Formats: sequence, C-alpha cells, structure tokens
Amino acid sequence: MADIIRERRSIRRFTDQPIERDKLERIIEAARWAPSWGNLQCCEIVIVEGIEEKRKLAGLLTAKNPASRAMENAPVLIAVCGRPDKSGYYKGKQITRYQHWFMYDLGLVSQNICLKACELGLGSVIVGSFDHPEAEKLLNVPGGCELVALIPVGYPDHSPSPPKRKSVEDFVHYGSF
Ligand SMILES: Cc1cc2nc3c(=O)[nH]c(=O)nc-3n(C[C@H](O)[C@H](O)[C@H](O)COP(=O)(O)O)c2cc1C
Repeated sequence: MADIIRERRSIRRFTDQPIERDKLERIIEAARWAPSWGNLQCCEIVIVEGIEEKRKLAGLLTAKNPASRAMENAPVLIAVCGRPDKSGYYKGKQITRYQHWFMYDLGLVSQNICLKACELGLGSVIVGSFDHPEAEKLLNVPGGCELVALIPVGYPDHSPSPPKRKSVEDFVHYGSF
C-alpha cells in the first residue's frame, strides 16, 4: 500500500485499451469502503462510458484545464457526487464550524478510487475544475445531490515524474504548531 500511495500519479493520457469489468467493479468496491461521516455514506457515483457524454463533459472543463484530453480519452469517467445535508449534521443541525464535511467524505472516496486504480495498473486523475451545474444537468444528478469531481480512469499512456512535495519539516509540527 505504501508504494501505491507514493507511485500513484495524476494520469492525463490513456491508451485505447478498455477497462476490464472486474477491475471497474473492484474500483467501485474500493469507493464503497471509504470512511464517511457517521458512516452515513453520502456518496453517489455515476459511471460514464458513452463517447458523446464524455465529449460533452470534457467541454465543461475550465479553459486550459490540463485534464481536458483525459476526459475524452479515458474509457471510463467516474462522477463523484454527494448529499451535502448528511455529513456534518446531527438531527438536521450543523454540529461543527464546517459546513462541507461531505466534501471530505467525497475526497476519501476519490482517493480510494485512485489508489485502487493504481494498484490495478490503471491511471486516473481527479478533476475538480469544471462547470458543475452544467455537468449535473448532463448526468441528471437529482436535487439534494451535488456533483463534485470527475475522475477519468484508463490504462496510462505516459508515466509522469512526481511533482515536488513539501519536505516533512515544512509541514509537520511535533507537539504544537
Ligand atoms: C480536489 C482536486 C482537484 C483537482 N482538479 C484537477 C483539474 O481540474 N485538472 C487537472 O488536470 N488536475 C486536477 N487535479 C490533480 C492535481 O493537479 C494533482 O493531484 C497534483 O498536481 C499532484 O500531482 P499527482 O496527483 O501526480 O501527485 C486535482 C486534484 C485534486 C485533489
């Protein structure tokens, strides 16, 4: 697992090779087992495989988004959605200063998806910068549910070198900040 965490890269170019069904199911299973606020499991995912849908979604990315090509090129897009009124609430009341714990839950789901994909020899990239309302319309996301991220998944056609990370001493504080 430690190697997968380090070796996973954002992949933005894919080969034409389709993803085997059992691999897709294992990725979905990894998403299913992500931790969530109160185990409320606010996440819902949409699997997008249609060429036309992928093309339209690609067109909704922000200008110069480096993942535009990946969106069309990937055999599968996983749309990560969630219900904002679940996580962070108890009996309908917000119980911490943060309103958006569902984003945290969806981040954990997304990480599980990307790590499992990597373990299976697949590449992925989390895409968060796009026209969310238009993409929700396209995917028929119902009211009360929001689409947060799109994750193209496929066989990698490049192997990018790792972008720089902070050194441990630059972000870890022992004892107090
Ligand atoms: C919440 C989130 C949103 C992101 N949105 C985009 C995006 O819109 N387009 C893109 O090309 N990459 C996107 N990325 C990928 C990051 O650019 C990438 O994770 C970062 O540069 C580190 O590279 P690595 O994933 O290879 O370690 C996103 C990543 C995260 C976690």
